[in-house]
Amino acid sequence: MLTYDVLIVGSGGAGLYAALKSRMEEDLHVAVLTKVYPTRSHTGAAQGGVNAALANKDRTDTWEDHWFDTVKGSDYLADQDAAELMCREAPQVIREMEHWGCPFDRTKEGKIAQRPFGGASKIRACYAADKIGHVMLHTLYEQGLRHGVNYFNEWQTLSLLHDGQRCLGVNALDIRSGKLHTIQAKAVILATGGYGRIFWTRTSNAYGNTGDGAALAYRAGLALKDMEFVQFHPTGLRRTGILMTEGARGEGGYLLNALGERFMSNYAPEKMELGPRDLVSRAIETEVREGRGGSDGEVFLDITHLGKERIAKRLPQIRQLCIDFEGVDPVLEPIPIKPTAHYSMGGIHTDFNGLTPIEGIYAAGEAGCVSVHGANRLGGNSLLDILVFGRRAGVHALEYARHTEFKPMPKEALAPAETCIKALTDGDSKETIADIRKDMGDLMAEKAGIYRDAAGLTQAVAGLVELKARYKRLKIKDKSNIFNTELGAALELGNMLDLAQVIAQGALERAESRGAHYREDFTKRDDKEWLKHTLATRNSDETPKLHFEPVTITRFQPEARTY
Ligand code: FUM
Repeated sequence: MLTYDVLIVGSGGAGLYAALKSRMEEDLHVAVLTKVYPTRSHTGAAQGGVNAALANKDRTDTWEDHWFDTVKGSDYLADQDAAELMCREAPQVIREMEHWGCPFDRTKEGKIAQRPFGGASKIRACYAADKIGHVMLHTLYEQGLRHGVNYFNEWQTLSLLHDGQRCLGVNALDIRSGKLHTIQAKAVILATGGYGRIFWTRTSNAYGNTGDGAALAYRAGLALKDMEFVQFHPTGLRRTGILMTEGARGEGGYLLNALGERFMSNYAPEKMELGPRDLVSRAIETEVREGRGGSDGEVFLDITHLGKERIAKRLPQIRQLCIDFEGVDPVLEPIPIKPTAHYSMGGIHTDFNGLTPIEGIYAAGEAGCVSVHGANRLGGNSLLDILVFGRRAGVHALEYARHTEFKPMPKEALAPAETCIKALTDGDSKETIADIRKDMGDLMAEKAGIYRDAAGLTQAVAGLVELKARYKRLKIKDKSNIFNTELGAALELGNMLDLAQVIAQGALERAESRGAHYREDFTKRDDKEWLKHTLATRNSDETPKLHFEPVTITRFQPEARTY
């Protein structure tokens, strides 16, 4: 049996930072398990920037301003002590990344360059052209190699093992051989990212963003928090949902409707295109619903006035993506865009160190929920979250593993993984992954997307029960062992269905509008009834059971949110 002191599941920024930190100060055995390769993780798709109040561009910026912007952006659902900690620690993690060689763009004086971003009162997003996620990911991977982290690439984790009190490890599939393994670990850090693919075609997320870690935790009895809050990024490419960075608007890009009007003046007269994402996405949807969108339900992001040279220097990636996937050159024409499912504010319920109620089980990054983003995350705060909380989880797990003995692994530990694979491979059926997945994506986008109401959400909840019944009948056609991608996709679909149920149920119960959760039948925020977190655990019939916990308010009393 493979044995590690600390095992990290997922190789995006949070996982790699956690691995590095848990390996750095002690000679512990640390491994990262990833179903892709670390350098292909979705952090690499992050474009515009990472927030830290360095005050390099805007000399008046402070971490307190960042804290307030984050809390206001969250529509007051973020825990203020957690948000405070993230904003205070931001400069420290950025400097650590800088010292490891992360190639940020620079000001004339050689300081880290910063650009404006949505919902921020000061200029604080540190950037590297429009590929900050890519450079951060590579920096962390290089440092991990340097410090002796082990990487298990192309391994898919199937179950999380614990005895009710302590972590035991995981079961995982070696995709290349098709062999199942139990891996013993004193600590497991789930850092598998988000689950935007639940919305299937309407997302900026990579195909691998299927919420595996959150689903494993949920099935292992842990609580998921605030899952109904799903962020739609205002500017995804019209046909593919691929991200067109907020940095484009930070550089001075405009949003235009099909009549050529700069419509944000009607929705956020002060911040205009740099309003928070929930507000800008709803503004776009409203323009389209009221007939001012293009024939495909799109509006336009215009950066032509920035000029070829500036676009080449600051926004080269989105230019190329737009040419490749939309056949439009943003130097010459406005970019056709639609809001796209981008980020999961919810996730596995943890404390400030990423720790869950089970000793040795942690979650970090988008898979976790501390909670710092509340009902709506600010652009640039997700890369910050993975740094601050990936780091904290790694440091805590190291200390824990140093002072803990391995627990014996029960003989039958592999059984849940074997049963799960057998259920998908033994027999035949007419159901296909593609059909169920498409129906799930359409259902979620239509009934649990930017605009929601009780009727639609009730249909989503019922529809998901049916989709799960179809999933239970699903048998994959490829029965081979080696690199069975159909099996991988089936496992991912099971994970997404579980999480979709939690999203829909939470959205149905939350009878108010807050941040990214907008109910057309309850259009106001209701602090009296709903200033609280939603926690979901799994009933024995596999439906979600919800309960609610208070939000931590320390300094900022909730007030009307205007931009
Ligand atoms: O628009 C962007 O570049 C995305 C950034 C983020 O989600 O933080």
